[in-house]
Amino acid sequence: MAHFNTTSFIHEPPFPRNYGSEFLLLDRGKGSYLYDTMGKRYLDFGSGIAVNSLGYGRKDLARIAARQMKRLIHVSNLYATEPAVSLAQRIIQDIQAVIPEKQYQAVHFGNSGTEAIEGALKYARRYSANRQGSDHTGFIAFSNSFHGRTMGALSVTSSEKYRAPFAPLIPGVRHLPYNEPEALRAALQEDGKVAGIILEVLQGEGGLNMASPSFISAIQQEAAERDIPIIVDEVQSGLGRTGRLLASPACGLKPDIICLSKPLAGGLPLSATVITDRINVEIQPGDHGSTFGGGPVTTAVALEVWSIINNQAFLSGVRTRAAALEGELRKLAADFDCCGTLRGEGMLLGVPVNLPQDERSNPIKEILDICREHGLLVLRSGENIIRIAPPLTISEKEIRQGVQILRQAITQLHNAKRSS
Ligand SMILES: Cc1ncc(COP(=O)(O)O)c(C=O)c1O
Repeated sequence: MAHFNTTSFIHEPPFPRNYGSEFLLLDRGKGSYLYDTMGKRYLDFGSGIAVNSLGYGRKDLARIAARQMKRLIHVSNLYATEPAVSLAQRIIQDIQAVIPEKQYQAVHFGNSGTEAIEGALKYARRYSANRQGSDHTGFIAFSNSFHGRTMGALSVTSSEKYRAPFAPLIPGVRHLPYNEPEALRAALQEDGKVAGIILEVLQGEGGLNMASPSFISAIQQEAAERDIPIIVDEVQSGLGRTGRLLASPACGLKPDIICLSKPLAGGLPLSATVITDRINVEIQPGDHGSTFGGGPVTTAVALEVWSIINNQAFLSGVRTRAAALEGELRKLAADFDCCGTLRGEGMLLGVPVNLPQDERSNPIKEILDICREHGLLVLRSGENIIRIAPPLTISEKEIRQGVQILRQAITQLHNAKRSS
């Protein structure tokens, strides 16, 4: 094995070019911190893109994974295991409690967010084809959406940059403007062959926009009148990120299909596509499947993650810490002319930065690079937004430290731009 203890970066590793050419080499983590191969410490305001919600170096999760690995690692979906059954039961029971209007009945386990979406699209098509006719195959999705990179999920993702090189994608997908109820009503009047409506109520990659109440009520009303399944993508917004189990019930959305992933198994790959009884009854054996999805190791860990996160004391702590983060970021945004109004909710927040960008200079990338030099890892969302999604367990002191580094980075860039 190569030894990397003489460098913090690797250039052009044998990965495909889609991931870029230079990588920070990370070695280990503890709490809210990551350490590179040279031992430099980074406060993590990104948590592996909203995955490591419980922080790093969790011995409790490692013990569960190790115990389960010794006992049984894989059985395929020809058989079931106790952790998978218990997790599915727990997910259904707890989601039912926050969305009592629907009857949730089954969980399909996959391995990633994009797979959760693929399952959702297939289930929605099956439902609509059975109930309305086999020509009901289209999907309504929205501007600034991100649902993943496999062909089905990419088809409902809005960004042309991601879509165009891989056209043709699945036909019949329309991207309507987000938060415009009238556009949705008009589109559904025009096109009666819709199999599903898919949305994020808080858009993680596409700019941290939140669904408005009038938009949600239009979706609810139109979907109910036309018997169209609503798919909610809570891959990024779900599981405590907004200080609640899910973000959608707080917006008044009552989805038929719920997609979860990122933090579900504490950093191990697992996704869940949760469906109601009305969807489940239309599905036939063989309609969908996954070799690894819902294996006993990932589901055993996920059961513990779920119990930790879906606990009222834990969620209320997240809301308190999120309010502190929001307060610090609001102050920061108010102190710089180049910063716009804070967006997002809970521990998924964004600061827009409006500095001129061209082919040679990208201010968000420059801010992220300066932050990294000063020991802070942060994310980007959309074109010009700094996205902050720390571990949900981050302390208020760490929040203040991280925002201070962010402040330093924006000041540094601001001064550099002014003097150039
Ligand atoms: C809202 C949302 N949906 C789906 C995905 C795709 O998840 P994955 O990268 O695990 O396939 C992402 C990933 O960032 C996401 O943020």
